Amino acid sequence: MTMRVVFCDPSCEPEPWLEALRRHLPQARVEAWADGVEPADYGVAWAPPQAFIDQQPRLKALFNVGAGVDKLMRLRLSGHVPVVRLDDAGMAAQMAEYVCHAVIRHYREFAAYEAQAAQGAWVRRPARPRAQFPVGVLGLGVLGSRVAQALRQFDFPVRGWSRSARSLEGVQCFAGDAQMGDFLAHSRVLVCLLPLTDDTRDLLGRERLLQLPQGACLINVARGEHVVDDDLLALLDDGHLSGATLDVFRTEPLPPEHVFWRHPKISVTPHVSAQTLREESIAQIAGKILAFERGEPVAGMVDLQRGY
Ligand code: NAP
Ligand code: GLV
Repeated sequence: MTMRVVFCDPSCEPEPWLEALRRHLPQARVEAWADGVEPADYGVAWAPPQAFIDQQPRLKALFNVGAGVDKLMRLRLSGHVPVVRLDDAGMAAQMAEYVCHAVIRHYREFAAYEAQAAQGAWVRRPARPRAQFPVGVLGLGVLGSRVAQALRQFDFPVRGWSRSARSLEGVQCFAGDAQMGDFLAHSRVLVCLLPLTDDTRDLLGRERLLQLPQGACLINVARGEHVVDDDLLALLDDGHLSGATLDVFRTEPLPPEHVFWRHPKISVTPHVSAQTLREESIAQIAGKILAFERGEPVAGMVDLQRGY
């Protein structure tokens, strides 16, 4: 019987995705999902509606066209269908360059130099010792571990925090709630690369942000709901935090009237730190569909109990 693959991403034009899937899986029948489309063997989806899940009762696997599965986790999923997230697929290099850029921007005080340049002011600011600029990475998974390694290339002291104990060359690793205080206390820059789960939602509120050293900055490239916005703003305004680079927000697109757009200590980008690359992603998903068909294990299986 011909293998059927159904694609669903309500936010995009499906045709280029269907073309890529058909090219990588010439033996399959590939269709865009619409209400009433025949049940398929494999689903390839980003933020699908509940109706998509309800009308696909015989999926052998559901592929998430992204790394974070928080949108899928909000749906009623059939517990026995494997969910597979993108495993790098070109995102790790993008994330490494975005975070290194943001860390270096804070460390080398580029915002201050831009303000000086606007005034025509030739003022050399004293170089800051790198040893006093440890970077803490929350989440040491596919993306966090790549970011930590990239930061090491610039000789920043790097610390990392994960749920289970990890070991990464050149990175001081911390795990679990018990070690979070120690991890935060010496993170001059905090990078959030956690999945959004019940355990991590609102993690970065006043209490934890206050545990960062005076003058610390925050880089959030994970999900907006990790950060309590009002607590972040209050700590930026009272000087405990010196800056924030935010790529993700509770409401996306970030509403035009939101204070983050105009805050002098906040840089905003529109959820672009690591974009899904169509060609790399579909090649990876097609390879995994063929592995499923052969009964082989695949990387990137989501643990539905943990939520990532
Ligand atoms: P991943 O491979 O699943 O890694 C997640 C890491 O977070 C793991 O190290 C995990 O610990 C840790 N973690 C999870 N829950 C935790 C908890 N309660 N306490 C402590 N550590 C916890 O995920 P990834 O591929 O690196 O992606 C991370 C997130 O980045 C995604 O979920 C997504 O939200 C975000 N993202 C954003 C963009 C963007 O453009 N802004 C693009 C892609 C992804 P263990 O190692 O112990 O499991
Ligand atoms: C993007 O945010 C992703 O999770 O891939």
